[in-house]
Order: sequence, then C-alpha cells, then structure tokens
Amino acid sequence: MTEIDPPPSGTRAPSMALIAVANQKGGVGKTTVAMQVAAELSRRHRVLVVDVDRQESTVWWAENARDLLPFDFAGSQHPNMLSRLRDLRADYEFVLVDTPGSLEDTAVLETVLDAADYALVPVTPEPLAVDPTLRTLSRLIEPRQLGHGVLLNRIDPRVPHQLQTWQGLLNSELGVPRLESYLRQYKVQADAPVLGQLVTSMRRNRRTEGAIADIAAIARELERLLSPALTGAW
Ligand SMILES: Nc1ncnc2c1ncn2[C@@H]1O[C@H](COP(=O)(O)OP(=O)(O)OP(=O)(O)O)[C@@H](O)[C@H]1O
Ligand SMILES: [Mg+2]
Repeated sequence: MTEIDPPPSGTRAPSMALIAVANQKGGVGKTTVAMQVAAELSRRHRVLVVDVDRQESTVWWAENARDLLPFDFAGSQHPNMLSRLRDLRADYEFVLVDTPGSLEDTAVLETVLDAADYALVPVTPEPLAVDPTLRTLSRLIEPRQLGHGVLLNRIDPRVPHQLQTWQGLLNSELGVPRLESYLRQYKVQADAPVLGQLVTSMRRNRRTEGAIADIAAIARELERLLSPALTGAW
C-alpha cells in the first residue's frame, strides 16, 4: 500500500490524468484493464492505481504480486481521496481508478467520475452488456461532459467477424466513442490476478505476445488521447 507524499514545497505539480475505469455492468474487465494498462503506462510514466471497490479485486491481485507491482497502489480507498490527490500535488502522470460494477455502489462511482479527466469503459461482446453500458454512459458519464471511450474486451479471435460486428455496433447503431485498440481474450489475462502477474512483465512467447501487444496498444492510445491533460491544456 502506498502512502502518497506531497513533493517538497516549491516543486511544480505535474499535470495528472485521472482515468476512471468504469462500467456498471459487472465482469467486463475493469479490474483487468486498470491493472494491466497501469503496468504498461508505468514503463514511461509515474502511475498510481486506486481501488475504491468494496470487492477489492486489485488489492487481492496486488497481494498476489507481493512487491512486484511496477506502479504505486492505494487499496481500499474512499473515493473522496481522489479530489484531494491534486491538492496533495501528488507526483503522478496517470492515476487509474478501478471502480465497482454494481448498481448499489453508484454513489461511489459518481464521486470518482466527478474527480476524473476521462472514463475508460470496458465492454464485453455480449448482448446483455449493452444496456447497462449505455445506461452508465447516458446517466453517469455524458451528463458530466467527461471525455470517454468504450473499450472492447474479451474479443475472441476464433469467432468470425466478432470484432468488426461490435466495432460497427458501437460506431453506427449505438453511436458511442470507442478506442481503436481492443483487448482479446487470453488465458494469460484470466490467470493474471491469482498469479499476481502483469502481462508487460512476462517473457514474450506465443502464449503471451497477443496479450502484451493488446495492452501496449491501449496504453499508447490513452497516452495520445490524454496528452492535452498531461500538458495542462485539457
Ligand atoms: N481479455 C481477457 N481475457 C481473458 N479473461 C479476461 C479478460 N478480461 C477479463 N477477464 C477475466 O474476466 C473476469 C472478469 O474480469 P474483471 O474482474 O477484470 O472484470 P470487472 O469489470 O472488474 O468485474 P467487477 O464488475 O466484478 O469488478 C476475470 O476472471 C478476468 O480474469
Ligand atoms: Mg473489478
């Protein structure tokens, strides 16, 4: 667990991009995306992951990783701490917040979204995920005029046209902004929390290379999208 120290007085606070990983649909990959993308971003930036979810999935993951997490981690946080992060002038370029996927925790999610610069909304290619995702967008994210993007997760390369079908659905029928990058379904992703692993630290081989490439592409796209926030022009 990380104690967040303010930098010495007189130090200029760097710009920080606070990303809420959010979807009121459970099990779409919020925790997976927060942890894996944070690890990739931490190769080039100072990164903090914050867990405000009562399920504490990232806490469990972090405990399994022991001291191997490449980013700072603050588990079991009250979401009010996020609004104080900037006052603390904490020295992070990216803060990723793993949020709860249950409707009972809407107040928690709202507090996170109030503090966020961007909402990253994972969704799985299942018809049952569509309505809860659209509700999260229309009720919680769009009214805040918060920059956001839907991220397709668990794309199965063996299912013909699945990626194109879902990209088309998001673009045309649903008309929601989405990331160009996406995350395919891999066993290494499913095994990662229990093993405390992050794909970016894995040796590249046939089993891992697809997952590593997907996470790298998502991190690059977020860097491009959020660079105005990082230069203070957001
Ligand atoms: N790309 C993927 N490939 C394989 N398994 C995945 C992938 N993404 C997520 N999973 C698995 O799917 C399950 C749900 O993912 P995860 O816990 O990240 O979702 P979540 O949105 O955080 O869920 P909750 O709403 O309960 O917090 C986990 O077992 C996770 O390991
Ligand atoms: Mg989760």
